[in-house]
Amino acid sequence: MSAAAAKTTTTPTKSETTSDFKTTVLFSISDKIGCLTEYLEVIKEHRINITRIESRPSKTEKFDYDFFLDLSTEDHSSEPIDCVIDCLNKKGVDATILTETKKPKQTSTPWFPRKLSDLDLFCNKVLEMGSDLSSDHPGATDKVYIERRKEIAQIAATYKHGEKIPTIEYSEDEKKTWGVVYKQLKELSHTNACRQYRYIFPLLEQNCGYSENNVPQLQDISEFLTECTGFRLRPVQGLLSSRDFLNGLAFRVFHATQYLRHHSVPLYTPEPDICHELLGHVPLFADPDFADFSQEIGMASLGASDEDIERLSTCYWFTVEFGICKEGDGIKAYGAGLLSSFGELEYCLSDKPERKPFDPFVTCNQKYPITQYQPVYFVAESFQSAKDKMKQFAETLDKPFSLRYNPYTQTIEILDTKDKLVSLCNQIKGQTTSLASAIAKLQC
Ligand SMILES: [Fe+2]
Repeated sequence: MSAAAAKTTTTPTKSETTSDFKTTVLFSISDKIGCLTEYLEVIKEHRINITRIESRPSKTEKFDYDFFLDLSTEDHSSEPIDCVIDCLNKKGVDATILTETKKPKQTSTPWFPRKLSDLDLFCNKVLEMGSDLSSDHPGATDKVYIERRKEIAQIAATYKHGEKIPTIEYSEDEKKTWGVVYKQLKELSHTNACRQYRYIFPLLEQNCGYSENNVPQLQDISEFLTECTGFRLRPVQGLLSSRDFLNGLAFRVFHATQYLRHHSVPLYTPEPDICHELLGHVPLFADPDFADFSQEIGMASLGASDEDIERLSTCYWFTVEFGICKEGDGIKAYGAGLLSSFGELEYCLSDKPERKPFDPFVTCNQKYPITQYQPVYFVAESFQSAKDKMKQFAETLDKPFSLRYNPYTQTIEILDTKDKLVSLCNQIKGQTTSLASAIAKLQC
């Protein structure tokens, strides 16, 4: 299930709480009615928190009182506090900074999954919509549906890396719902989906049981994807945090739900379901360039700050979920949110919405609605180009370490010793020799 649909902010760790990054300011004032309120208003206008205030009779003859204030800003920047000092001094106050505790540069390596089995540690930390339905969910009062959701959620809850994903026997009602969605989306994809989607979809029909009358099984699809690109599926109960979900992509793992939307409204779902995962996401994970692009976002998310996770999940939203790409002289959809939407798929390619070139440095700051059509879409030149841009963006993130995915062991390595760098160089050297040899043979 997609991380971007679960836009959440991780709680700051203790070392990042606002009170730890304070600036103590001394200002001396003359006893004048209303002046303190006026000065405090200046602080409020600059969106600065006051965490302590203390007054004493002034030791100078010029002023009546000295005030000691502990101030902090939400982003720990000192700029607003410098502005306040300047404003107060212009108002005749003697204001000076006594001490400053600035945010230290992060030097330690935070925890993040290093191997595939580490994903077992967070796969059950779902945020919402596991088996608990909100009151406005179409199945909220359907006891049979709720029980079924619990049953399916339990499979994901007990799944461990390395096991086969259990087969789910879908009911006739569930198959009927799947069939309605399948038929309509398949038809829409012929004219609106990107070339890669149109190429891979028939392969899923031939190899993974994709059909109007059958809900495919995650295990079959996972095996197919692993053969194509090394991607695999992992069952999940509901929405993971953005960080956990993106971390999974670093290992070429896509967390997918297995439940069906409620049968009363087959063309609507308030949350991603198996139709969204299998008809929207899965086909593109069989494309090598798209798989690489997705893993690039995942690698960038490992050990990233909360702010960068927010920016990365915004990039994910406008690409993997709602991306559009160039194709010949036209444009086509590749985002799963579009490919599994009956209305937005055609809307996004019409002349109604705004479209901008995909640029992670711009895209990462774009605000977006979750429950309406997107007002703006970002157009990628190609998946290869999107991957290169994402890599450049990832290199600008503030991390005190470099990472590498080792495809042989399927683990994440921190490149922090000379030996590891030498080993990496030797591998690159070996690959370069193979490349040169292959080019030479082609030229013969
Ligand atoms: Fe999704």
